[in-house]
Amino acid sequence: MPRKIASSSEFEFKSFRDCNGDHPSQTLIFHNGSFSWWIKVKVAWSLPEFIRKLGYLKRRSMIREFIKAIEFAELALLEDIVTLINLTLAEQSNTPIPIRNVPSNDQTEANHYLSIAHQVFFEIEEDPRRTIYPILDQAQDLPTFEASHLQDEEDIAATVSTVYFKQKQHAYKKVDRPIYEPGDTEHILNEITALAQFRGHSNIAQLIGLVISDNPYKTRLATISSPVITGFLLEYYPGGSLEQVFAETQDKDDSLLRRWALQIGRALQTLHIKRRTHLDIKPSNIVFDANQNAILIDISGTGGYGWEWLAPEMQQTIAQNAVTNPASTAFDKRVATDCWAYGKLLSTMATRLNTGGLEC
Ligand SMILES: Nc1ncnc2c1ncn2[C@@H]1O[C@H](COP(=O)(O)OP(=O)(O)OP(=O)(O)O)[C@@H](O)[C@H]1O
Ligand SMILES: [Mg+2]
Repeated sequence: MPRKIASSSEFEFKSFRDCNGDHPSQTLIFHNGSFSWWIKVKVAWSLPEFIRKLGYLKRRSMIREFIKAIEFAELALLEDIVTLINLTLAEQSNTPIPIRNVPSNDQTEANHYLSIAHQVFFEIEEDPRRTIYPILDQAQDLPTFEASHLQDEEDIAATVSTVYFKQKQHAYKKVDRPIYEPGDTEHILNEITALAQFRGHSNIAQLIGLVISDNPYKTRLATISSPVITGFLLEYYPGGSLEQVFAETQDKDDSLLRRWALQIGRALQTLHIKRRTHLDIKPSNIVFDANQNAILIDISGTGGYGWEWLAPEMQQTIAQNAVTNPASTAFDKRVATDCWAYGKLLSTMATRLNTGGLEC
């Protein structure tokens, strides 16, 4: 049901994940009194050359100015989800996108979108590429933390930030991320299942609990919605990753490298004994605790993989299109892939030994 726009309406533009190339899109929350709608406006036509040549900020402000002029009250926006408004250019549109009366000035006349608004046709659907937050399954039986109770968030990677809960620092891995792919929610759930399985095991990242919130897309702010999982908290390991250690220091203390080699091998063996595989063994997936112990992270077993860390036979299987993801191959093949990557990790570490090799 379309709603009249109150004068209190406001636009909260999201820079995160917006595309500002030839076919720009802009995500925003449209607040109107006690209602909020998540909207993604997507432009489907090729922009004229002179616009493509404008700087990023100029192009962004042009589309935002246009969006502010759209009469959202006349559109059937979808509740509790992200409404995708697909804009196409028609020779003649019987139902052009409704535009409010905007005062004409030099700026609006120079706005490409406003100048052709009468030709802009629109279609509305659920945004199929929205971030999907899983509903909290009470059967998960894990500690939960309200997202709004976490403090001092600071990004350490695209998907991970540090946060404080009651003065204790944790790593927070989120469902939402700059480049979200539809399969990511499932990978996060797989990671939670694996982490729950290995609670109490040394050298494997330790799960603190799930982070939950109200449905972030909730339209009627006063209603009660089922809590969703926005991510999970891990113990924070302050020693950086093996990738950072490699980048920062040339040679490492031999005994430290040997200790790490054993600890990573032990963590991998723990996964394999429980018939799980990692499939993304690489330096950025090893971090260090305050006592310089190696900790294996990113243990979903189904997330992304680095091509150069894949065993040649697995590369071949994928190159032949036999499978698209190592995770869908037989257990023994996956174990072999982990072992190959572990071997590559060991030989990379060996080059960092002070003695210049692994001879003891
Ligand atoms: N518990 C933690 N403590 C400290 N740092 C962490 C922790 N978890 C992750 N990080 C840091 O965040 C980075 C990304 O974490 P993670 O590998 O889990 O995310 P990802 O999105 O799956 O990454 P990728 O796809 O690149 O493997 C790690 O390389 C590490 O530097
Ligand atoms: Mg990783």
